[in-house]
Amino acid sequence: MKKTILITGGAGFIGSHVVRRFVTRYPDYLIVNADNLTYAGNLANLSDLENAENYRFEKIDIVNKDDVNGLFNRFDFFGVIHLAAESHVDRSITSPDEFIHTNINGTVNLLNACRNGWQSYESKLFYQISTDEVYGSLGENGLFTEDTPYDPKSPYSASKASADHLVRAYHNTYSLPVVISNCSNNYGPNQFPEKLIPLAINNIKNNKPVPVYGKGENIRDWLYVGDHASAIDRVFHKGKPGCTYNIGGNNEWKNIDLLKLLCGIMDDRLNREKGESEKLLTFVKDRAGHDLRYAIDNSRISKQLEWTPAHNFHDGLEKTVEWYLSNQQWMNEVISGDYGKYYEQQYLRR
Ligand code: NAD
Ligand code: TYD
Repeated sequence: MKKTILITGGAGFIGSHVVRRFVTRYPDYLIVNADNLTYAGNLANLSDLENAENYRFEKIDIVNKDDVNGLFNRFDFFGVIHLAAESHVDRSITSPDEFIHTNINGTVNLLNACRNGWQSYESKLFYQISTDEVYGSLGENGLFTEDTPYDPKSPYSASKASADHLVRAYHNTYSLPVVISNCSNNYGPNQFPEKLIPLAINNIKNNKPVPVYGKGENIRDWLYVGDHASAIDRVFHKGKPGCTYNIGGNNEWKNIDLLKLLCGIMDDRLNREKGESEKLLTFVKDRAGHDLRYAIDNSRISKQLEWTPAHNFHDGLEKTVEWYLSNQQWMNEVISGDYGKYYEQQYLRR
């Protein structure tokens, strides 16, 4: 019998890259993707894997205990890679409740299912995918290490921090084997166009203003999503239970500089005159409580687990632009909300 891994949130941006990596690289694993297909979940991201022998999709709401317990009754998981979450800071500012339900209660439901469902903890692992935003905001200098105290500032980061604390509490109290990784901002194909890079690509393409929050001076450390998936693979297989790993790209960019770089790539790709796309950059009111700077010290994962990112930023960004421009139907369906029909056709009308 194949060893079975549960990946939650596998229809989302990062989750779909993790599912793809595990399904294609590990034919001896059965990968169960559990996702309740919120606005951010899109099964079209995985349509080519639909019939893979070692892949199953399960429509599961992690907030619903019966859903989660039922799933654990049907499958004997040896590992859980937990990505399902509400993930957008701006949404968490306008409506925090969903973030509490999904990111905190949903995580606890999964932890309880592992605790109650696993007869022995031998060779088992609960892997919590988290964010560097739990550490709060850096000033102009310094990096987040695994010892930086948690100091979340937004409802999103506070909900992720709470979940991480609960994961550690289950390790400390019940000896549940857990590992956590905290990653910086991801970019790449399949990202929902509410986040900076796909939003900017789409607006530039359609000659619409690109909103730059505040003065555009906030700094993020960007990592190509495929590199995050390779780091997750490494941590899942080689990480030490009870340990935390920071994952980042050593790739800090001020938002405004990143957007200018992106505008240059778009000018070339769309045969526009140099500087034309940049005219679309529009300064708007700042995000409430906007964290100034995130930057990761990834020396633990690079030394202990020998992981390094494979993509440099310019190449990764060009690859990303190319993907969005060649997948206009994906973008149209995401914007119109029509991608929900895919699940209906593939799974409900069979
Ligand atoms: P996403 O918003 O693109 O996808 C989230 C997925 O979770 C969606 O498929 C959605 O349908 C699913 N989901 C949401 N609520 C659910 C529920 N109640 N039950 C089951 N499934 C549910 O998010 P993402 O950007 O791919 O992020 C994935 C994970 O990685 C999150 O935990 C996030 O905190 C973390 N993370 C993201 C980044 C980033 O830059 N995007 C960086 C570091 C860490
Ligand atoms: P985002 O992609 O939302 O990720 P996060 O808030 O998790 O870092 O935003 C990245 C940065 O870009 C952040 O500093 C906010 C800024 N931003 C804009 O300036 N304009 C936008 O339209 C968006 C969505 C973000």
